[in-house]
This record gives sequence, C-alpha cells and structure tokens, in this order.
Amino acid sequence: VAAEKSGYPHFMLKEIHEQPRALKDTMTGRIDPERGDIRLDEITIKAEDLENIDKIFIVACGTAYHAGIVGKHAIERLTRIPVEVDIASEFRYRDPMVDDRTIVIIISQSGETADTLAALRESKKRGARIIAITNVVGSSVSREAEDVLYTWAGPEIAVASTKAYSTQLVSLYMLALKMALEKGTVDREEAVEIMREMKQLPEKAQRIIGGEQKIKELAYQYSKWDDVFFIGRGLDYAVALEGSLKLKEISYIHAEAYPAGELKHGTLALITEGIPVISLVTQEQLYEKTLSNIKEVEAREATVIAVAMEGDENIAKNANHVIYIPRTIPFLTPVLTVIPLQLFAYYAAVARGCDVDKPRNLAKSVTVE
Ligand code: G6P
Repeated sequence: VAAEKSGYPHFMLKEIHEQPRALKDTMTGRIDPERGDIRLDEITIKAEDLENIDKIFIVACGTAYHAGIVGKHAIERLTRIPVEVDIASEFRYRDPMVDDRTIVIIISQSGETADTLAALRESKKRGARIIAITNVVGSSVSREAEDVLYTWAGPEIAVASTKAYSTQLVSLYMLALKMALEKGTVDREEAVEIMREMKQLPEKAQRIIGGEQKIKELAYQYSKWDDVFFIGRGLDYAVALEGSLKLKEISYIHAEAYPAGELKHGTLALITEGIPVISLVTQEQLYEKTLSNIKEVEAREATVIAVAMEGDENIAKNANHVIYIPRTIPFLTPVLTVIPLQLFAYYAAVARGCDVDKPRNLAKSVTVE
C-alpha cells in the first residue's frame, strides 16, 4: 500500500498533489483556444437539440453536488438556459418537473452512488436527455447515460474527494462552453479568453500546492477549534460549501458554509472572539459586498483567514491571515480556490490525529439508499 501512495503519507495528499496533472489530462485534446473550439466527441448534443430544451437539472450527491452548483453558474451564464441543481436523494422523491424538453446532468465520481443512479433512471423514464460526468469508465452511470463526459482524474482512493471535484469543475466549464458555442450565446472572443485561462489552471494549481507550507501552519494553528465558518458570495459561496464539507468529514471539526450576505440573518449570533472565519473573496464584482461582511465578523473579534486573488493587498488590512491564489478570471476561480481549502482540511485532520483516508462512518461509494 505504501508504494501505491508513491511516498505520500496519505492518499488524500497524493490526490491533492495530482490535481495539476488531472486537470491537464481532463482538458487535453478537448480545449482548443487557437481554433476557438471545444471538442467533446462524447457529447452528441447539437444546436437543434438545444433549441428544444427549456431547462437543465444537475443532480448529484456530496462533493459532486457542490461541483454542480458551480456548473449552474457556468451554464446559466454562458447559455442562458435555466439550471436547477439538486441532491439526488431529494430530487428522486419529489416528482421532479422533468420531461423531454429537459437535460439532466448527472455527476458522480464513482458512477455507482445509489441515489444518483436512481435519479438518472427516473429522469430517463420521464424522457429527459441524460449527460453524465463521471470518473469511472464502465460504471453504471456511464452505461446508462446517453452522453458521457469522463473526468480523467485517475483512481481516487481517499474517501474525501479532491481531484474528482476539480476535474468535475473543468468538465462542467467545457460542457457549458460547448453548449454556448452550439447555441451561439457566447461570443467567440469571450470563449477564447475562457479557454486560454483554463489552459493555465494546471500550472496555477501547481503554484498553490508549492506554497502549502503556509496553509499547513495555519491548519495546525487552528486545528484546536471546534467550530469553523466559511463565507463567500456567488462562486465563492459554492466553494465555501465544499471547503466546509472537506473539513468536517476528515477532521471532525464542525464547519458551516454561509453566503456572506446571509450571515446577519442568524449565523452571526455564533461569531464570537477567536472563531475562525475562512472568507473567500475572489469575485471582483462582489468584492466590496463581501468585504463589508468580513468587517462585520471582524467587529465580533473573529479570526479572519481570507482567500483572495494575488495582488489584493487591501484585504490584508481586514484579515488576520491571507492565502493568495494566482490570478485568473473570476468565472474560473473555484478550480483554484478549493485547493487551499483541501490542504487546510487535510492538515487540520493530520494535526488532530484523524484517520484521513478513512474517516469514521463514511464510505467512498455509497451504494445504499
Ligand atoms: C460519498 C463520498 C463523497 C462523494 C459522494 C458522491 O459520500 O464520500 O466523497 O462526493 O459519495 O459520490 P459519487 O461517486 O457519486 O461522486
């Protein structure tokens, strides 16, 4: 087993470190900024099909569901088709409004999650067109979907998902771009800019990983707290949800993610002196709004750990610590922002002596309902 970990103490750390490679493999041969084109041979949807689509659902569980929330932002923005994201175990029992004018995107690392598979079958029965995003070739989900987009993350062993999430994100971005180009709802120039930026993500992810020492120190410093809060707006909120899940599942620290603007409607009551509040501020158009929420928690003497874009010196005045991520367009930051949060969760769990790769009560693939 030690050999399979290639010298890493845990599969989770190995898999976090594999992300630059996994992102690259998932995009290779599919993104072509020079020609302004996305090639997804497996996706057979054409402009004519999209004409007849009123609505898209994204259905998944756990981390894959969190990827779906980012997917909703990306697809709605680029295609202007309304997207609903749902948890598979909720979706399947609520008589969803799915018909032959609906696309259902199913996301599942393993392709075997029972509720997700049931949601796929239910949607198919109602006439929806199914697109699956999965990491396992030949999995049940891949066999039952019409179109399958594989994430080339390679086998993910640690229960806590990391490289599957980031490759699901780039897959969703590619799918959104592909549909928007077919439909003509994105201009070529913007599409090319997004593709160029996407191609740089592996190298930028590598830079974050190269700076992990600082994140490790912060995680050790704050690993004794019983409660940690994550806040952000828009895409930052989507990533906050995933950061919070990572922390609770492997370190057993109670963690909660909140849309920054919603804090004052309840959760602010829990913010007291010293409580760590991990604040994501990578969305330029929401910057001032999030900053004012950071000031609210600061006023309650919380400890603010900000995750911000490189070059944002202003944020240092309002945070106890800042973790910088390399600059990219705000639309794509989730792929990078999640990495410090994965590392924070990992090192907090190590500091607490937890069984990182096999957290209590959890399974890698949940094949029971
Ligand atoms: C389990 C795993 C999670 C995963 C979820 C969905 O809870 O521990 O890491 O996100 O199942 O799994 P799937 O294979 O469908 O993506």
